[in-house]
Amino acid sequence: MNEQIQEIKKSFSSGLSRVKSLEALQKIRVSLLGKKGKITLLLKKLTTLDGSKRKEVGKKINDLKSHIENKLLEKENILKEKESKKALSESTIDITLPGRPQNVGTIHPLTQTEKMIIDVFQSMGFSVAEGPEVETDYYNFEALNFPRDHPARDMQDTFFVEGDLLLRTHTSTVQIRTMEQKAPPIRIVSPGKVYRCDDIDATHSPIFHQVEGLCVGPDIHFQHFKGTVEAFIANIFGKDTKVRFRPSFFPFTEPSAEVDIMGPDGWLEIMGCGMVDPNVFENVGKKWKDRGEENPYDPDKISGFAFGMGVERIAMLLHQVNDMRLFYENDIRFLKQFGK
Ligand code: DAH
Repeated sequence: MNEQIQEIKKSFSSGLSRVKSLEALQKIRVSLLGKKGKITLLLKKLTTLDGSKRKEVGKKINDLKSHIENKLLEKENILKEKESKKALSESTIDITLPGRPQNVGTIHPLTQTEKMIIDVFQSMGFSVAEGPEVETDYYNFEALNFPRDHPARDMQDTFFVEGDLLLRTHTSTVQIRTMEQKAPPIRIVSPGKVYRCDDIDATHSPIFHQVEGLCVGPDIHFQHFKGTVEAFIANIFGKDTKVRFRPSFFPFTEPSAEVDIMGPDGWLEIMGCGMVDPNVFENVGKKWKDRGEENPYDPDKISGFAFGMGVERIAMLLHQVNDMRLFYENDIRFLKQFGK
């Protein structure tokens, strides 16, 4: 067996010096250490030897085995390095190939417009409040003083979900939710999606965006509102924009008005507004009383103004877009023009 060990060692070193590839190296590894490899077989044969002999020869075989393993590993590393150097020297980068441009997205014009509106009001001390899109009849209509038979409650305007639930038709709902939770003074704007059973055309969509505003305090009157809106319009449409307040009607404001600005072809309506109707304060006051808390919304002591506008409409006026559908089709050629 000793001879065999010597023989294996010799032929291993001469074989190893001739190896030029990882495959050849693997072959040698298998021929020696594999299941039927020479070393493996020798180790098996050990069982035929007795006691001290077995120990002596066993040690030699194991020494040889680790010698072989080390040498194989050494060679493997050398070969691997050679191969990767070769691969590197053979591969070239064709710098004449055109690159792939990375398209950087832009913020959607409606999002930009909504942010502009919010920024102006935030600079005047308003904060942002949000509410759910699936609402109850109470928050969308009842609390906002819509009479039971008001046409807005009709199937033609409102998407009903089931039972008492509906998709909110305006963000005025957030007025109620806010006043139920927080005592005055209040200054909030609430942006969000609203839903109406409308067919899509150049000026209608079943989903659109609104920003609602509410300011409530002990001594808020219409002049506060006029000043706020005029500042807002000057900021968004320019200082010299002409503004007009036109009497109107909304169930939740008294008096109510609509705000128009002068466009190139005449007056354009941009928002609904008014002084919060005392009935709305009564409704939120009930919630405070039901909770056993002192009611901070006594209509004799508190007043406020509210307003609501469509984001699409403002964006259309700002950018002279004459078809609302362009905002939803997401044609890159259209959106790119609002790059920011
Ligand atoms: N909620 C109204 C709408 O969707 C807009 C509006 C009008 C909001 C007058 C108000 C307001 O807060 O005072 O048409």
